[in-house]
This record gives sequence, structure tokens and C-alpha cells, in this order.
Amino acid sequence: MTIGIDLLSFSTSRYFFSLKSLANYRNVEYAKYYSGIGQMKMSVFPPNEDIVTLAIAASKRILTKVDDISSIDMLIFATESSFDLSKSAGIYVHHFLDLKPDCRVFDVKQACYSLTAAIQLAKNYVSAYPESKVLIIGSDIVKYSEESSGEPTQGGAAVAAIISKNPRLMSLEPYSSVYTRDIMDFWRPIYKNDALFDGKLSAQNYLESLKITFEKYLQKSGLKKEDVNYFCFHCPFCKMVKKAARLLSINNVDDTIIYNSIIGNSCSASLYISLISLLDNCPSDLTGKRVGMFSYGSGSVAEFFSGRIAENYRNVLFTEKHQNQLSSRSEISFKEYEAFRMDLPVNCCYENAGHVFLKTIEDDKRIYEILKNQL
Ligand code: HMG
Repeated sequence: MTIGIDLLSFSTSRYFFSLKSLANYRNVEYAKYYSGIGQMKMSVFPPNEDIVTLAIAASKRILTKVDDISSIDMLIFATESSFDLSKSAGIYVHHFLDLKPDCRVFDVKQACYSLTAAIQLAKNYVSAYPESKVLIIGSDIVKYSEESSGEPTQGGAAVAAIISKNPRLMSLEPYSSVYTRDIMDFWRPIYKNDALFDGKLSAQNYLESLKITFEKYLQKSGLKKEDVNYFCFHCPFCKMVKKAARLLSINNVDDTIIYNSIIGNSCSASLYISLISLLDNCPSDLTGKRVGMFSYGSGSVAEFFSGRIAENYRNVLFTEKHQNQLSSRSEISFKEYEAFRMDLPVNCCYENAGHVFLKTIEDDKRIYEILKNQL
């Protein structure tokens, strides 16, 4: 029996802010953002979108290809953008997806690494209960303070995946190596909206963690570097992926960063958006290919693991939906960008009726609603 990713999709905002405009307002050469950092656009979020609404949108899409949703008996929500220290964000998602009541729901956190932790937990769960499916979600909205060096790397998205036996997309291999190190490279105290970071230290620790985990992965698996056909790296910004590829002396990463370069950093979701980008955009047939996955979460925990792409994987991709969502986003002005950052009320529209949005916050309770008619 193989276990792995059966279905995988992402959802992001209906709005983007162009880094050309940001460069203009920040008096920075656009070349620094475009080639120095590798980013072109960032997804930005109006006040009625949050990690829950993004998660519901991504999950609803994959559920269209699940025959029996009553087989989902666990939902793991990975995030570092939580708005509640007690209630799990996953419970709102459970409600709007109409999952059965005897489905275990909880959140996990460890910076950008958390969705990988969720996948490994889910994999072990399915190996114990092979008839079960686990819905895992990584959803994050990344904000840095204005004019900080992190500002051009902001972004956000949710990824949803089903982990099951005999997966239609990618089976997970038993090899993996983990490296944990206590370091202050990126953190967000609970009283702050914007993340704090030491940019240079974070990049250095990312690369050291990659070197350590990859060497250990090869040692444990007995594989050679050439046995790994494709690589996906956690993508806080695309230049970081290029640096990771340079460190391992590999060069075929361009297909993995197409989506991240116009979404920005989506933390827990980012590595899996790289995988989706590869699957959607690589013209070669990936059947049977081994994909090496490097997950990094500041603070820090890193893991290198791998999977093999299933036969007929193209039948379960959502390529057109991803491409349409990204190409139909509306560009916002600098003034709107500032309003979005401060969560000021704005006129927003959604593509589809059926979209779940945050209607209001009353007595500190978040109230979500399904959009009845297209606006
Ligand atoms: P900075 O101070 O703007 O960087 O911060 P810089 O001045 O070193 O410039 C960046 C690059 O642009 C350099 O190239 C420059 O040469 C180039 P490099 O040396 O890197 O190859 N450059 C230009 N290129 C063309 N034309 C120009 C030009 N000017 C300069 N005119 C930094 C950059 C990434 C450090 C900053 O954005 C930052 O601190 N970001 C936030 C932290 C981060 O993303 N760290 C990544 C690793 S940690 C991680 O991945 C975890 C994370 O996702 C969080 C989590 O786990 O939850 C962040």
C-alpha cells in the first residue's frame, strides 16, 4: 500500500499589488525586486478575507474530486497567522465543508514548516487506518512592516490536500531527515500583526539546514543526488530557491516558482505551491519521477523528504482553475494597498456566488457567510 497526496490545490486573493508600483513608492529600483529578490507581484487581502476563507476556497475545490467525504475523519489546519489562541481555525472550515461530526480537527504551528508536520502526521494516521482520508490545509497571510526589507516578499494563500492510501498524485517515500535548531531568525509575538526577522540570519540558516537535511536524506535513503529528478524548495521569495538550487548544484527549478513569483510568501502553503507549480507547468511527463521536497520553518525546523509522482496524475490536477484564478486577479493602487494593510473597509467583489467571506466581527466573534449572489 502506498500513502501520499491524493489531491492538491491552492487558493489566493482576488487582488494583487504589483512590485513595480511598490518599487516606485519606496524609491527602489524595480530590478532589485525583480532580479535581486525574484518577485513580481504579491497577493493582498481585503478585510473580509482571512486564513479561514482562503482555506475553505482551496478545500472546496479538492472536495469536488472526493467520492465519499465521510471517509475524511481528520482535518489538520497548519498556520502561523492565527487570530485565535484557543479555537482552531479548522473548526470553521469543518462547518462550511459539512464534514461529519466525528472528524478530529486541530491546528498545528511551526512557522512555514507546519504543513509538512501535518503531512507526516496524516501519513502515519493513514498507515494505521488505511480506509481514512485526512484533509490537511496550510493557510497563511504574511505581513511585514512598511518599508522593511521584507515588505516586497509579502503574500498569502491556502493549500488544501487529501492524504490517503493509493494516492492519485504523489506517494510519499519513507525517507526523510529533520533538523531542529533554536534560532531567532523570524518570529511574531502575539501582540504584533507584522512579523519580525533577521533577514540575513534567516537566509543563512535556511541554506545550512538544507545542506544538513539533504546530506542526511541521501545517507539514510542510500540514494544519490542524481536519483532525485526534481526539487521543490520552501519559497519565501524566488531568489532564495535559486540560492538553494545553486547550493545543491541543480538547475531545473524554474517550473516550481512560476506561481510563487506572483503570489509572494504564503509560509505554510509556499512549498506546496511550488509542487503545484511544477505539476501544472512542467511540459515533461512526470510519471514515476522522484521529487525532493525541502521544508523550512524559521525558529527553526527543516525537513527533506521525497515522493514519487503517480501514473495519470494529470487527471487530478486543477491547472486551469489555478491559472484562471491568478490571471483574473485585480490590481490595486498604492492607496488601496495601504488600506488593505490596515484592514480598513473597502469595496470588494468576488468571482463566484458560494464563496465564504468574513461578514463581520461581533463581540469578538468572527461571523462568516456564504455569498448568495455574484457581486
Ligand atoms: P535586503 O536587505 O533588501 O537585501 O533584504 P539585499 O540588499 O541583500 O538585496 C537582495 C538581493 O538583491 C541581493 O542579491 C542584491 O545584490 C540584489 P544576492 O546577494 O542575494 O544575490 N540587488 C539588486 N539586484 C538587481 N538590481 C538592483 C539590486 N539591488 C540589490 N538594483 C531579504 C533581502 C531577503 C533578506 C529580505 O527581503 C528579508 O529579510 N525577507 C524576510 C526574511 C526571509 O524571507 N528570509 C528567508 C529565509 S527564512 C524563511 O524562509 C522562513 C520564512 O518563510 C518565515 C517562516 O518560516 O515562517 C521567512
